[in-house]
Amino acid sequence: MGMKIQYFSDYEGMSTKAAQLIIDAVKAKPELLFCAATGGSPTGMYKALKEAAQSDESLFEKMKVIKLDEWGDVDSKHPVSCEYYLQEHLVNPLKITPDRYMGFSADAENPKEECVRVSCVLQEKGPIDICILGIGTNGHIGFNEPNLQMTDHCHVAKLAPSTLLNGMVINMTKKPTYGLTLGVQDILSAKHIIMLVAGSGKEEATKHLVSGKITNDWPATHLWSHPNVDCLILG
Ligand code: GLP
Repeated sequence: MGMKIQYFSDYEGMSTKAAQLIIDAVKAKPELLFCAATGGSPTGMYKALKEAAQSDESLFEKMKVIKLDEWGDVDSKHPVSCEYYLQEHLVNPLKITPDRYMGFSADAENPKEECVRVSCVLQEKGPIDICILGIGTNGHIGFNEPNLQMTDHCHVAKLAPSTLLNGMVINMTKKPTYGLTLGVQDILSAKHIIMLVAGSGKEEATKHLVSGKITNDWPATHLWSHPNVDCLILG
């Protein structure tokens, strides 16, 4: 129980393991609510899920998906948006129908209201069964950035400078001005969390994460207060 840490020497091995955990869970509970992160860390895992969906068409036909986070002030059709990423890597390949897909809209006119809306959706459809997370170079999860206090529920987040260096947005001229994210308690309310640690510049965040010391300076360390986390680390 607690955090189960496993190290992988290759990205494919990590991705296959993560996908297998999800496949086993969805076989046991086909209608599970899956919270989806975006970014470089889970892309290989989504590819493995796509292959599983191709060999067993019925596997994901009841699974529900909620988006972990979204860049604010970015057109949802823009290729950097989390929306675009999830449509391409998860929603379309796994044939998740609109009634089984929920989460923040990137181009919501009123982001605060959008957070209230998603909180209500989560209250109605939750709790999350499996939450996939990546980690930021500053230890963020979703867009829960290092802060004096963590925010429990869905909120509009001020983005840390290092977050704007993330591979998804680094080349944008007009950068996102905020993030929309599930809060730390929303994440910790998930029954099972799978944290994927991959990508450059994550050494310090990883060191803090595995140390077991919970601190708001490295938000991912809060996962130590959860009873069921699989932490898969590349390296
Ligand atoms: C981004 C997103 C997170 C993501 C993390 C790591 O800023 N807000 O949801 O998990 O940072 O991204 P990557 O996997 O591309 O390193």
